[in-house]
Amino acid sequence: MKVIQVGIGGMGNAWLGAVQRSPTVEFAALVEVNAAIADQQAAAYGLDRSLIFRALPEALAQVDADAVINVTPPQFHREISVLALEAGLPVLSEKPLAGTLDDARAIVDAAERTGVLHSVAQNYRYRPLTQTIKRVLASGRLGAVGAVSVEFYKGPHFGGFREEMPQPLIVDMAIHHFDLLRFFLESDARSIGARSWNPPWSWYSGDASAAAQIGFASGVQASYVGSWCSKAFETSWNANWRFDCERGVLRVQDDVVRLQRLLDVGAAGGGALRNQHSQPEVVPLVELAREGQDYLLDEFVEAIHCGGSTATSAQDNIATMELVFGVVRACETGESVELSR
Ligand SMILES: NC(=O)c1ccc[n+]([C@@H]2O[C@H](COP(=O)([O-])OP(=O)(O)OC[C@H]3O[C@@H](n4cnc5c(N)ncnc54)[C@H](O)[C@@H]3O)[C@@H](O)[C@H]2O)c1
Repeated sequence: MKVIQVGIGGMGNAWLGAVQRSPTVEFAALVEVNAAIADQQAAAYGLDRSLIFRALPEALAQVDADAVINVTPPQFHREISVLALEAGLPVLSEKPLAGTLDDARAIVDAAERTGVLHSVAQNYRYRPLTQTIKRVLASGRLGAVGAVSVEFYKGPHFGGFREEMPQPLIVDMAIHHFDLLRFFLESDARSIGARSWNPPWSWYSGDASAAAQIGFASGVQASYVGSWCSKAFETSWNANWRFDCERGVLRVQDDVVRLQRLLDVGAAGGGALRNQHSQPEVVPLVELAREGQDYLLDEFVEAIHCGGSTATSAQDNIATMELVFGVVRACETGESVELSR
């Protein structure tokens, strides 16, 4: 299959690598607005410089392609994705689906109207850690989940669009954790209360810190707290998690998964203040044949060949976008937000 990758700097590196590793996908062309990045990446990846165009319409006019990989900043996602879909080319796009909820809905409309696949790269779902969490929860070992808390602290200096966005943490980063909540809980958000703020030492123009309380349709409550301008005790990019379940707790700290169960010791065994628990148990991480972008690219190719869809199609991912922008709305208005689907 021949693809056009749009945007080859930054996160484009991960996709250049995934395509070059793939036995079934090759480049028809690349698109990059910045000539210096085009030169640099052509040298670094051994790309044919004559196949790197300045804009997608030029590439579409000059090469035959089967699909587009969109790795541009969020504000360009709508223009590029809709152009590709209308040209009949399936799209594999970086998250967020689009820079605004209106743009995201326009992409879903285009995918519906054209009947062409648009898939969103929610790569955090396809990691050993997150697949391990998913499998423990799905095994039923701890019973039903009642509540989840998520804690995320990092202090990266990216420069670029993230330092100019109004809500960098929520829209560019917490989106991964919010999408994971939907993935783990197999449910969509219904009610949201949230606040965001920018600590005095922050190097972002927008709010680098936020807290949100999210109620899911299944009844599970999730508490999220995070910051992108933390100075110490940073968490993993995957965040720390605690799932309070019917028969125990699943905890994920610094990418280590542990569980502990409440022991059934009968009426004589304890009393309200003396619960007995199993020894905390470290859950080994599952091994995956393919992770992250490699998995997503394979899933996308397979869906095109079979005429099917992907787990994170635009039609599914719009629920992640509604959650993300619901949290933004709750922060901006100071009022709780109800989502209905
Ligand atoms: N899934 C993840 O873990 C992850 C990590 C980082 C970034 N991302 C996402 O990837 C996307 C890109 O982010 P980034 O960090 O690579 O940004 P970036 O600004 O570092 O790189 C974007 C690249 O696209 C090019 N570009 C911009 N507009 C273009 C256009 N209209 N046509 C062609 N090329 C264009 C830029 O010149 C640059 O080379 C964003 O949506 C971001 O959220 C995802």
